[in-house]
Amino acid sequence: MSQVDITVDGQALPAAEGAILLWELEKAGLFIPHLCAQQGLDPPRGACRLCWVEVDGRVQTACTVRVVAGMQVVTRSEAVDRLTASAFELLMSRHRLDCRYCAANRRCALQQIAKARRLPLKPKGLPVIVPEAPVDDSRPDLTIDPGKCVLCGHCVYVCQHEVKKSILEFVQRGLHTHVGTFDGRPLANQGCGDCVRCAEVCPVGAIYLTRDLPAA
Ligand code: SF4
Ligand code: SF4
Ligand code: FES
Repeated sequence: MSQVDITVDGQALPAAEGAILLWELEKAGLFIPHLCAQQGLDPPRGACRLCWVEVDGRVQTACTVRVVAGMQVVTRSEAVDRLTASAFELLMSRHRLDCRYCAANRRCALQQIAKARRLPLKPKGLPVIVPEAPVDDSRPDLTIDPGKCVLCGHCVYVCQHEVKKSILEFVQRGLHTHVGTFDGRPLANQGCGDCVRCAEVCPVGAIYLTRDLPAA
């Protein structure tokens, strides 16, 4: 890809023409909230609606915009912040919040976004409705907690495309969508072997190494 100049928050920035804008901004050290975008997944899912920026005066998700020479990008504005805050609150309205006893505490992407954008983790204007699905702790080393899943899709992607097992997928629909096994059987019966890639890529505490769970 050839390098072109774009303008980001009033500063010139060299970027790869045709590349996904989100990754070019991240490469430049800018923090743009995002959960569902993944390096290598192209086209991106554009599902979490967190990565808002203004491009040439239009608010768009940075993971679905390609770099074009001369584009003018604004990473923070009233509209950008409002849309990001709304998407974040919606996500947190289906999330069981218990950071103190969570395996992801202090490395969690939700905590990072909340801190960077000064957003509350606990929704203020929406009721919390957590997906109704049991915790899968059938494997001794790894646990799936659907009540923490933010539907980023990272675990589904690595299971299908990297490990090539296709054991994990999104199950149920609507408010109760979450990650589970493709046939509903516990993870211990799925032939994962020692693989823990899903736990390694989960940005929150929805799939985790059981040994990382703090004592209650
Ligand atoms: S996933 Fe993150 S925000 Fe949710 S309880 Fe765990 S640490 Fe807290
Ligand atoms: S279990 Fe984790 S990695 Fe998988 S979709 Fe949910 S939040 Fe994302
Ligand atoms: S990272 Fe852009 S919509 Fe999720």
